[in-house]
Amino acid sequence: MRKGMATVLSNQQIVDRVFRLEVQGDLIGEMTWPGQFVHVRCGTGIDPLLRRPISICDVNVEEKILTMVYRVEGHGTKILSESVPGQPLDLLGPLGQGFPIDERKEGEHALLIGGGIGVPPLYYLGKELVKRGVKVTYVIGFGTASQVILEDELQSVGTTYVVTMDGSAGEKGLVTDVLNEGFNLEDSAWDVLYSCGPLPMLKALQDRFQPTGKEGYLSLEQRMGCGVGACLACVCQTQSPENGKKYRKVCSDGPVFPLGEVKL
Ligand SMILES: Cc1cc2nc3c(=O)[nH]c(=O)nc-3n(C[C@H](O)[C@H](O)[C@H](O)COP(=O)(O)OP(=O)(O)OC[C@H]3O[C@@H](n4cnc5c(N)ncnc54)[C@H](O)[C@@H]3O)c2cc1C
Ligand code: FES
Repeated sequence: MRKGMATVLSNQQIVDRVFRLEVQGDLIGEMTWPGQFVHVRCGTGIDPLLRRPISICDVNVEEKILTMVYRVEGHGTKILSESVPGQPLDLLGPLGQGFPIDERKEGEHALLIGGGIGVPPLYYLGKELVKRGVKVTYVIGFGTASQVILEDELQSVGTTYVVTMDGSAGEKGLVTDVLNEGFNLEDSAWDVLYSCGPLPMLKALQDRFQPTGKEGYLSLEQRMGCGVGACLACVCQTQSPENGKKYRKVCSDGPVFPLGEVKL
């Protein structure tokens, strides 16, 4: 992890409130672990004081280009959305523990489930899994058709099923409905689950798959302060305390945790 300046190459709106930001800088050469994040100083001065965590969506390590896809939620991301090409951007990263991929074996099948703005880190993850000979299937859920992001990019990595709550694109319902209803995604059809998205979705996945003993990893979102394990702003509770350790820091022990490790 290090702190460094990158230069904005482009910052384009892709759907309502969601932007794709490409930056270039030396520290990006270290961003090789999918699921890690960068802590972004959104403004140039002290407003906002705290950095904002944004996931690595894609990296071109040779050219040191990082792609982030972010949704405007409040003050920090609004300022970020006003970034223009050529502007410097102060980054801290890469941070956190990403999705474990070293143990994956050629010929395995990984199921990647994303919800809303949790979809971006699954793009880089899928690409790295495919490089290791792992088959990737995506199931990505959104509220409605106009919110769907990265569908074409994900399709280029693995079969991608879109699910919307109102049925305006893909299947109607929640991502968990698709797993219940078909697409040949019954539990025996895949070896490992990776997911990132809203808490209720992660909770539904944990409730469903923890009792089955399936291997899985969930990436959590939590409000953050320092981003490096010092302030305790991001703690969450573990399910079974180990050595009296009842808490995990999402920024430094996570954001990715094995299925069943933390209470959701
Ligand atoms: C590890 C990690 C990776 C993330 N990756 C991405 C990403 O790739 N793309 C993306 O769009 N967002 C991502 N987020 C969420 C993003 O960090 C927040 O949306 C952002 O910090 C909001 O800042 P803001 O100043 O715009 O909003 P604020 O003005 O700080 O808050 C506006 C609203 O957003 C809520 N909010 C703020 N921060 C969070 C948060 N961390 N989680 C949930 N709700 C929050 C607040 O409660 C408030 O309701 C990630 C978060 C984490 C922890
Ligand atoms: S954000 Fe400071 S400890 Fe996690």
